[in-house]
Amino acid sequence: MKILLFGKNGQVGWELNRSLQPLGEIIALARVDADFSRPDSLADIVQQVKPDVIVNAVAYTAVDKAEQEEALALKVNALSPGVLAGQAKKLKALLVHYSTDYVFDGKKESPYDETDEPNPVNAYGRTKLAGEQAIQSSGCDYLIFRTSWVYASRGNNFLLTMLKLAQEREELSIVADQTGSPTSARLIADTTALCVQQSVKEKLSDGFASGLYHLTASGCTSWHGFTEEIIKLAGSCPDFPLKIKQVKGIPTSEYPTPAKRPMNSQLTLTKLENRFGLEMPSWKKSLALCMGNITGDH
Ligand SMILES: NC(=O)c1ccc[n+]([C@@H]2O[C@H](COP(=O)([O-])OP(=O)(O)OC[C@H]3O[C@@H](n4cnc5c(N)ncnc54)[C@H](OP(=O)(O)O)[C@@H]3O)[C@@H](O)[C@H]2O)c1
Repeated sequence: MKILLFGKNGQVGWELNRSLQPLGEIIALARVDADFSRPDSLADIVQQVKPDVIVNAVAYTAVDKAEQEEALALKVNALSPGVLAGQAKKLKALLVHYSTDYVFDGKKESPYDETDEPNPVNAYGRTKLAGEQAIQSSGCDYLIFRTSWVYASRGNNFLLTMLKLAQEREELSIVADQTGSPTSARLIADTTALCVQQSVKEKLSDGFASGLYHLTASGCTSWHGFTEEIIKLAGSCPDFPLKIKQVKGIPTSEYPTPAKRPMNSQLTLTKLENRFGLEMPSWKKSLALCMGNITGDH
């Protein structure tokens, strides 16, 4: 089986380039090989490879900057995935794509399921929703995974920023009224590999149905709760000296950002778990596993 992976240097793409290895031949591309700001250039790249599976981990993920660059974000997050979907349909390939909790407005009091109506509150969310719709209307075989609050042991992310700040400062003020599920890129990639393996088997027996699934770690917290857990785990590691003494919880109103964020980002996992026979681990368990990589605590 040939798998064409786009975005090999991103948080999720990096982990996918590892987790997909046992499934077949992986052709992993970076921005220099395939530029998603030029959607018209992508069809030829896919046709040259003729993959059985396309996995798209590319995205314009700069949520605040997207407010100023929505046209570019739309090309990367929607128009290019639409081209990949068209090519997947031609080749009868499976397209795997990622979306976000930010398609929702966050006003719901309980976790969002896949039947809840999206209503993005920022440019990034609008472009990601347009990407979902481009794929869903293409007629290709697809899996779309909406995930949230992604972190990894490499790249730019909240976990690494908090670890750095906790080594430099005695006090931090972190937003405590936004709720979501921190999810490691490794968990997303490992789960994707299992889902791809099952889906390819289903496709061979004509038993495959395309679908959109929520894919996060289980349980939820706030950015403040996430930070406290990061510091607790780092603090228990003798080789990781911390300066931090206090993590203060603040409301969103005290941390204004160019892009509005949903207050409630919790996603239900039942559809994913039932379809693929999974039991998603808690966000605390995944965080501990990821931090073992960083602090050297194996
Ligand atoms: N990060 C989160 O908190 C979060 C939350 C919810 C959902 N998601 C979704 O999860 C998926 C994976 O996100 P991630 O966290 O792994 O993102 P990431 O670390 O920001 O990686 C994004 C990748 O896209 C590439 N890229 C950006 N613009 C490109 C362009 N014009 N042409 C080609 N490649 C381009 C980047 O290339 P370079 O390496 O060259 O920059 C990078 O490899 C995305 O669909 C994202 O929307 C992420």
